[in-house]
Amino acid sequence: MTSKELFDLAVRASERSYSPYSRFRVGAALIAGSGKIYTGCNIENASYSMTICAERTAIFKAVSEGEKEIRAIAVAGSADDDYSVPCTPCGACLQVMAEFGGDDLMIILSDGEHGLNDFLPLRFSEKNLK
Ligand code: THU
Repeated sequence: MTSKELFDLAVRASERSYSPYSRFRVGAALIAGSGKIYTGCNIENASYSMTICAERTAIFKAVSEGEKEIRAIAVAGSADDDYSVPCTPCGACLQVMAEFGGDDLMIILSDGEHGLNDFLPLRFSEKNLK
């Protein structure tokens, strides 16, 4: 699976976005440790803060199916079907990615491949708990 193919799956997942409030559709597609692919979309709520992002939907689906590791995750977001502007993962999603990803996790946005260290170099992790 190429980065472009994973990104295209994220775009497809964004079509299932439930976002009547923001009208911003986000999709995520990840490759887990087993090699299986999981997708997710953002799911909003009338009580706005109950919203969950596409990335965490996909990660929680994977972990709830027994995965412990994610190798790569693509994220696509758009308000108007133009997916060319990168949809940068929010801080909460980056923190969840860090739990199951790590230094070699590949984060694929519309502008190419990134690492967690590009976004969250001084992240809190289990190392801080020792
Ligand atoms: N959103 C995501 O799903 N992922 C991101 O990376 C950024 C934001 C969602 C949350 C909300 O439903 C909408 O986009 C607007 O913030």
